[in-house]
Amino acid sequence: MTGIEQLPVRDELRGKTPYGAPQLDVPVRLNTNENPYPLPEELVQRIAERVSEAARTLNRYPDRDAVELRSALASYLTRTTGFEVSRDQVWAANGSNEIIQQLLQTFGGPGRTAIGFEPSYSMHGLIARGTGTGWLSGPRRADFTIDTEAAVRAIAQQRPSVVFVCSPNNPTGTAVERETVLALYEAAQAAGPSMVMVDEAYGEFSHRPSLLPLIEGRPNLVVTRTMSKAFGAAGLRLGYLAADPAVVDAVQLVRLPYHLSAVTQATALAALEHTDTLLGYVARLKDERDRLVRELLALGLEVTESDANFVQFGRFDDAHATWQALLEHGVLVRDNGVPGRLRVTAGTPEENDAFLDAVRAVTKETTR
Ligand SMILES: Cc1ncc(COP(=O)(O)O)c(C=O)c1O
Repeated sequence: MTGIEQLPVRDELRGKTPYGAPQLDVPVRLNTNENPYPLPEELVQRIAERVSEAARTLNRYPDRDAVELRSALASYLTRTTGFEVSRDQVWAANGSNEIIQQLLQTFGGPGRTAIGFEPSYSMHGLIARGTGTGWLSGPRRADFTIDTEAAVRAIAQQRPSVVFVCSPNNPTGTAVERETVLALYEAAQAAGPSMVMVDEAYGEFSHRPSLLPLIEGRPNLVVTRTMSKAFGAAGLRLGYLAADPAVVDAVQLVRLPYHLSAVTQATALAALEHTDTLLGYVARLKDERDRLVRELLALGLEVTESDANFVQFGRFDDAHATWQALLEHGVLVRDNGVPGRLRVTAGTPEENDAFLDAVRAVTKETTR
């Protein structure tokens, strides 16, 4: 049998492993930052209507420019951030991962580098690698915030073409201060000019306002968002960006024609009609996230302040052993490889209770 090592794959892919959060069949799955609430029945009905309408013209390619969807996304951003966004500032793709890929294909690539401040979302580095972009790992403080001075220094010295700022940051939950983003943007313009990508996949869960208004007057700043988390539609695969219209024009150079299917566009439009209900679930999840923080602290654990729908907690002498022990209690959380820490996604109140019971049992076992 042929193994991958026998194939003439690109040198930089040799010996690497693909992204792979375990998809295990356990009673409580709190490992991939999904929204635990299924879509409400009236939205499911509306999706069925919109998709049947789209099915009548599936013999044709979809709207290549996704005009109606981009208008609806622009209205959503305007309404929820108070910052006026127009359709020509918005671009959509199959998940924000595809948006990030298109951005790296456009602004990174062979001979160029991208920097992220780690631990952060591992796909930034993986997509960089997939697009032939060199990856640079920038520093974070021990409390997982970005050390602005150290980050500015790293940008000045390494002159990356792309700077990733994940806020709230996955896996730590840490939000990034507006002033830090502004300092990194200035450093990136002085060193490059380079693009700054603010990944706001968890923006709706934050205690703080969106960083979106920073795109005003900053053509090299992009904010990426997703319907996978707040909209509870991870299965839909719909991500988007907001930036200067020139950025939207630039990604047209690399996007595949008709990349966003008519079914995806119809489903996303239906979901956007139900924004208020879906944001109601976000409010519940924020309360549950805060409860998880309180209860984990009360158990004597160290908890990283979270602006997202998940919580990083520890410290464990052997985080992987704790991950395994929780799994044996029927609860799947995430071991992101951050020493001594694990990450739990805020689930339904019942799922969170089951998680907290499992943590109590496991910490009792290990301290006995
Ligand atoms: C920080 C961050 N960005 C982007 C994504 C990708 O989301 P999607 O491709 O589902 O839009 C994720 C998913 O977990 C994430 O954590």
